[in-house]
Amino acid sequence: MSRFRRTAITGASSGLGRALALALAAPDAVLHLSGRDPERLAETGFLVRARGAEATETVLDVREAAQVAGWIARAGPLDLVIANAGVSGGTAGGAAESAAQIRSIVETNVDGVINTVLPAIDVMRSQAAQTDGVRGRIAVIASIAAFVPAPGAPTYCASKAFADAWTVATAETLSREGILLTSVCPGYVATPMTAGNRFPMPGLMSADRAARIILRGIARGRRRIVFPLWVGLAARMTGLLPARFATALVGRAEGKAQLDPTH
Ligand SMILES: NC(=O)c1ccc[n+]([C@@H]2O[C@H](COP(=O)([O-])OP(=O)(O)OC[C@H]3O[C@@H](n4cnc5c(N)ncnc54)[C@H](OP(=O)(O)O)[C@@H]3O)[C@@H](O)[C@H]2O)c1
Repeated sequence: MSRFRRTAITGASSGLGRALALALAAPDAVLHLSGRDPERLAETGFLVRARGAEATETVLDVREAAQVAGWIARAGPLDLVIANAGVSGGTAGGAAESAAQIRSIVETNVDGVINTVLPAIDVMRSQAAQTDGVRGRIAVIASIAAFVPAPGAPTYCASKAFADAWTVATAETLSREGILLTSVCPGYVATPMTAGNRFPMPGLMSADRAARIILRGIARGRRRIVFPLWVGLAARMTGLLPARFATALVGRAEGKAQLDPTH
């Protein structure tokens, strides 16, 4: 994994972001870690340093474009930027999503991705290309939820559909400049985000395993990484059904818990 020597990760204070940081941590690695919770972020930094890597920790909110842009500009040059920070929320109990929840998910999962990727592109444009012609790589953590609009998590699914479609569509154009984009679509991963789910999670895997799969796919220059594949295929097939059938099929599960939009 040491080909990604200089990496910036949002949402490194928890779950998948922390697992990615640990998978990248090696004596020649420099990791720029960000998140909102200072204690948990410092803990990731400590674990990363214990593996011999250098780490910086920056407390920031991905909804604040200027904060993220400043962090990435100061961190550069960068081999890899991972737009991982995200929140989920849904319709547990059968209640429609509140306006505050809808806006909060969009601000984090859509605006937060844009706020991270645009400055990453700027930094990478100013970097010399490596011998393989690559100036840098950017990965956006979307989700298999992008493939099927689940009534249990309407805005979450929509936000991930944006993240996936935008990343894959932009990848073609940016690849001509030597900047490689990857949309990452995991199924269920065991993290604090899924710990409270009260419904079956087929194909649930550990964050460490997910991180290894993601980094392998990014290294191979994949435009989209979907795993577990069978869950991705099932979601795609469901998404092809007439909308009423598709939503009825996935709508049997209890919704994701409501997000606390004040957080
Ligand atoms: N777990 C799954 O099954 C799964 C499946 C597919 C995709 N994903 C995606 O994977 C990514 C990581 O999720 P996870 O499962 O690791 O969840 P998690 O453990 O809840 O971690 C979410 C991370 O995002 C950060 N974050 C949230 N809002 C933020 C904001 N406004 N500004 C900065 N950082 C913010 C959190 O920071 P603080 O904790 O410091 O606030 C935390 O580090 C998300 O994009 C999620 O949608 C997860």
